[in-house]
Amino acid sequence: MVGQGAIGLLTACQLQQQGAKVRLWLRQPVSLAVHFRTLDGNSRHHRFEPWPTDQPIHTALIAVKAYDALSCIQQLQPLLAEDACLILSHNGLGTLETIQPLLKPKQQLWFLTTTHGAYIEPGNQAGRQLVHSGAGSSVLGAIQAESHPIPTFANALNTALGPLQSVTDILPYLWRKLLINCLINPLTALHQVQNGELARPCFAAELTQLLNEFCLLAELAGYPQDKAAAWQQLQQVITSTARNRSSMLQDRLAGRRTELEYITGFVLREAKRFELRLPGHEQLYQLCQDAGF
Ligand SMILES: NC(=O)c1ccc[n+]([C@@H]2O[C@H](COP(=O)([O-])OP(=O)(O)OC[C@H]3O[C@@H](n4cnc5c(N)ncnc54)[C@H](OP(=O)(O)O)[C@@H]3O)[C@@H](O)[C@H]2O)c1
Repeated sequence: MVGQGAIGLLTACQLQQQGAKVRLWLRQPVSLAVHFRTLDGNSRHHRFEPWPTDQPIHTALIAVKAYDALSCIQQLQPLLAEDACLILSHNGLGTLETIQPLLKPKQQLWFLTTTHGAYIEPGNQAGRQLVHSGAGSSVLGAIQAESHPIPTFANALNTALGPLQSVTDILPYLWRKLLINCLINPLTALHQVQNGELARPCFAAELTQLLNEFCLLAELAGYPQDKAAAWQQLQQVITSTARNRSSMLQDRLAGRRTELEYITGFVLREAKRFELRLPGHEQLYQLCQDAGF
């Protein structure tokens, strides 16, 4: 497990609870105590040892921000077994193109997308205070693997971040998630509002334009979207997460780097590849940049 972030630690705690031996790859190789508040409000204590730097890595979940994915894999590379399985998990798209060429022929790259919610409570207490804030589900698929049988680690991921669906082609799922992310994240971060605010009539025209433009691009990229179904899913996410702050808004408020480049930025880079103008996304991207994120 890489990092001491919310999704990585959530997975680590759930796996350790089931008796699995989990090690963490941290920037500083120290053991880490985690105080974990589960969905039902119970508290559990976990402790994780760092990955020993003289042992090969066979399986690693890399749940980091999209902008850290490449450097993270570069750091792991010297320790990766010839047939290592890497499972990447982040919001947005645009990392795979740079990561795939780094892998050896028998090394596998998988992608996991999840709707579970988790966060680390701020504070200076010893260890990490992890909260599992929302139940969700996950989808797993191969990006690069010689064959695509359901891998052995899928059972573990089903325990930790399930219910888990294994699919043969995950890219359509990532594009649908990108659609939802590139409508909700930049708008909520820009206007500093909770997700539910996007249900207000004043956002309807902009959301419609962003959706229409995304659908044009997705069609050209080979991931056509059913516009009515996508709109319905968008409304459902806005309603079911009405009181949540999107990850981009949380990052902005905390003064952290956002994943804008891998969400709207990726959309615009793809549009350029097809010589397509997306004025709504372009304007939103510019406003986010002007606002400093
Ligand atoms: N949290 C959620 O509820 C949720 C839900 C769905 C999707 N996601 C997506 O999942 C991804 C991960 O989210 P998250 O909330 O878990 O992020 P996070 O809390 O920021 O965790 C990422 C962790 O990775 C660490 N890291 C990055 N590069 C590293 C490296 N080279 N070596 C060691 N550690 C490294 C970071 O360390 P530093 O802090 O030291 O940089 C950080 O602890 C994001 O793309 C997010 O958008 C999150």
